[in-house]
Amino acid sequence: MKLHGTMEIKSDTLYIGGVNTVNMAEKYSTPLYIFDEELIRNNCKEYIKNFKVKENGNKVAYAGKAFLPLYMCKLIDEESLYLDVVSGGELFTAHKANFPMEKILFHGNNKTPDEIQMGIKYGVGRFVVDNFYELDIIERLCEEQNKIQDIYFRVTPGIDAHTHKYIRTGQIDSKFGFALTNGDFYLAVEKLKEYKNVNLMGIHAHIGSQIFQVEPFQEEVDVMINLVKELKEKYNIEITEVDFGGGIGVYYTEEDTPKSIKDFCEAIINKCEEKCKKLNINMPTLVIEPGRSLVANAGSTLYSIGSIKEIKDVRTYVSVDGGMTDNIRPSLYQAGYECAIVNKMNNISSNHKVTIAGKCCESGDILVSSTDIFNIESGDILITTSTGAYGYSMASNYNKIPKNPVVFVKDGEDKLVCKRQSYEDLLSLEV
Ligand code: LLP
Repeated sequence: MKLHGTMEIKSDTLYIGGVNTVNMAEKYSTPLYIFDEELIRNNCKEYIKNFKVKENGNKVAYAGKAFLPLYMCKLIDEESLYLDVVSGGELFTAHKANFPMEKILFHGNNKTPDEIQMGIKYGVGRFVVDNFYELDIIERLCEEQNKIQDIYFRVTPGIDAHTHKYIRTGQIDSKFGFALTNGDFYLAVEKLKEYKNVNLMGIHAHIGSQIFQVEPFQEEVDVMINLVKELKEKYNIEITEVDFGGGIGVYYTEEDTPKSIKDFCEAIINKCEEKCKKLNINMPTLVIEPGRSLVANAGSTLYSIGSIKEIKDVRTYVSVDGGMTDNIRPSLYQAGYECAIVNKMNNISSNHKVTIAGKCCESGDILVSSTDIFNIESGDILITTSTGAYGYSMASNYNKIPKNPVVFVKDGEDKLVCKRQSYEDLLSLEV
């Protein structure tokens, strides 16, 4: 198992943020999400530095869908990031955390009229307009309230990033955005002539998620910067901000070979500079929206091991007290994870394979299909690493299993950020 961030092994026990993980499992009980605050902050700083935020005024917007407790809103504000929200719920969270509303990008392919009204009322900085329906509503509501709203258009750039089909979004057959190839984008631009209460200041595209190579992003830069020039020449529209979305891949297992944050940032910025020079246009402000690459490796999940079922000559199932309710990614995307026993960090042997299973009533509730830990016993504490993105945010109450608490650790201290759901909480909405 790869050690991320501040993880270290001291006499066979795993520590994160200077905190003994066995003690954390005892203190908060399991299953438990544990986050390495220093690693998140360092990742933020890597983006701010390498995306030239201070130097060139570029913007890094954290994609809140990856993981958005109130505490994260505060943390990313302290680290000078913007925030991308996709629903009334995420917007409300940011509002409650006193996140500056002008630093919000409001995304979503089907924002409801209520959500749009909420965004206008709160004063969000930019709506990323996805379709004609939304454009009409924003215009109408802003006209009624005598406001002018800054917007981006979401473009479907026709780029096919090589990632899982459920998390690929840039190709033409997508529910997101205005397609370039069928002319929808230009129709939307034409419509702006009648609309007086929206200001098209930017264009946005997101080509997919968990992408390891820089080339698809460079292709995206090519399409988007061409568009900036075209909008100026054909429509006299000055695009001052170009948003390349998120999608930078991370390490989950040895099969994953992502480039560094620095490599991605440099590739995007260099390509933009080169392209703008070639087209003889000014560099716009550049925006990116990383989610996974800021938090995935910083989060881990601790579980207690319960039943161990050995089926001779077939397989050994080692079951834990969580599963697809706290990490849907293996069942949904066949995602791989690394794991270890935090109280027996050195017990690894390549010829002893076991399967780590969750506790849900689904045969597909398998967290790690094959791992080589040996001498596992009931009561041991298992960790799966890199569960920080799309774990808590995609958690469910299937089988009426309560959601895990979230603890942040740093410099030997632990801080409870989200409480464990209780059985009473589970019934709190029932009338
Ligand atoms: N911006 C937009 C418009 C997006 O749709 C997304 C992710 C991001 C930014 C952030 O992408 P990231 O840097 O995290 O790759 N649940 C899936 C991932 C879905 C991503 C959806 N959009 C998973 O667990 O792999």
